[in-house]
Amino acid sequence: MRPASGTKGAQVLPCSAALLAAVALFACSSRESLPPGDAARGKALFTRGLTRDGSPVRATLGDGVSELAGEAAACASCHGPSGAGTFEGGILAPDISGARLRREVGPRWPGDPLARPAYGEASLVRAVAGGVGPTGRIFGPAMPRYALGAKDLAHLLAYLRILGTETDPGVSAGALRLGARLPLSGPWAGVGEDVRAVLSAQFEAVNRRGGIYGRRLELALEDATARAPPAAPLSARALAEVASIWRGPPGDDDQLPAVGVIDLQPRERPAVNAFLLQPGAELEARIAVQHALARLTPAAPLVVVGEQGGWARGARAEADRRGVGRGPVRALLEVADARAAAAYRPGAILFQGEAAALGELLEALGEGTPAQVLAPCSVAARLPPAQRAPASKTVLFVCPALLGDQSGRGLAPFSAFLERSGLAPRNLAFQANAYAAATVVMEALKRAGEGVSRAGLVRALESLRDFETGASPPVSFGPERRVGVAGAYLARLETDGRLTPVTGWLELSP
Ligand code: HEC
Repeated sequence: MRPASGTKGAQVLPCSAALLAAVALFACSSRESLPPGDAARGKALFTRGLTRDGSPVRATLGDGVSELAGEAAACASCHGPSGAGTFEGGILAPDISGARLRREVGPRWPGDPLARPAYGEASLVRAVAGGVGPTGRIFGPAMPRYALGAKDLAHLLAYLRILGTETDPGVSAGALRLGARLPLSGPWAGVGEDVRAVLSAQFEAVNRRGGIYGRRLELALEDATARAPPAAPLSARALAEVASIWRGPPGDDDQLPAVGVIDLQPRERPAVNAFLLQPGAELEARIAVQHALARLTPAAPLVVVGEQGGWARGARAEADRRGVGRGPVRALLEVADARAAAAYRPGAILFQGEAAALGELLEALGEGTPAQVLAPCSVAARLPPAQRAPASKTVLFVCPALLGDQSGRGLAPFSAFLERSGLAPRNLAFQANAYAAATVVMEALKRAGEGVSRAGLVRALESLRDFETGASPPVSFGPERRVGVAGAYLARLETDGRLTPVTGWLELSP
């Protein structure tokens, strides 16, 4: 197997003479080759606090009492993801990049306690295991003491040697490679192709203007519908994912930054670095409940019809949170029982499921029903023409993004882009999502600067506030916020199949 481009850069690191004098592992060997697995395992220890067998690393703080484990004990949590050091709460965790550890630190004044000779393997082991510097100075209590096995220690040292010089996969001198996992075969192939075309056209436009910090943007694709696993996973080829459409298990690396993912089978716990532009079923249901509140009474309750997924979860949580009446959610019905919903004389029904079941529900409610039905936008698209007339009277659809070309607001840049690039507006929701995702990633790459890394990209994404994408409502992310657009529109379905907004942009109120 070829090593990932990231470790390759590190292997051509120049060796200084002083360094050659240092011992075995921590030294540069003349062959310049590290078993790639060692540094990679060392990296898992450094950044995520995972040892060789995947168990959390354990450490004791210098007070000899407080224990740290896993993520909290990961070197990166104090020294930073690239080892450049941090200064937080008055505590300095110094720069421990390979180059800096191999350098002598001279005294800034006579008797400076922080002066020290260059680290070698043995002194580094003493520092990590015993909390003692090369001059015998005992570190402050904030630097933990680690009891590591010989192999874990070797992996850590292999990684410390290249720390601060490696570039993440997908980053090279002349290019930044972003990946997309898309359905490229089967019934969804058209959607995959439309998304690919949007991304390619955007990257080309940026490349014509000189790229980002002089680097060209490249697109790496993975067929999400292929049965066989890919020869080289995206995480080994690309810096981040953009506008992927996922179904089924996540990729090989759930830490990979992934912007504007559309997850067709949302997990309970989404991937750590998935930055979503669509609010998702749970939030949509919450907004639907918020809208329905005024009509709910104990005699006219809320009934939820659908699978026991995010929609039902969001509906129940929001109804509980609002505490309207007693037991505001009268019933949670399976989709198969759509007809039964009418018997509760509901004030509002939150429906999610097959279009046919919605038809049955509307029939059971009858014309002129006082009940308000709320359903996700995706159901509207599947409704057969004959069902549109009854739906237009009773159903409001919760639509996550701007309503394609029907609303026009805030979409001008996207529309102009489609026209300029000669792309047909076919799978608009997906095309708009891809456009917005690529715009967000390009902005974050600019903010992350020339020395971009995955960690740097994540931080840059987290810094976005009310960012205009030209194809979505303003996007905001943060360390605790991975859904960039937390709102929706309500729209009515016209008999010709168009959706007309009946509200402005609704955010979930506190
Ligand atoms: C909880 C925070 C924390 C974690 C986790 C942590 N360190 Fe430190 N580290 C420090 C602090 C603070 C110092 C400075 C100690 C001093 O000089 O008194 C330090 C100092 C060091 C030094 C000495 C640097 C020098 O210039 O002499 C090395 C080497 C080091 N750490 C390596 C590591 C490694 C490797 C890990 C992970 C296995 C790690 N540290 C995890 C906080 C941390």
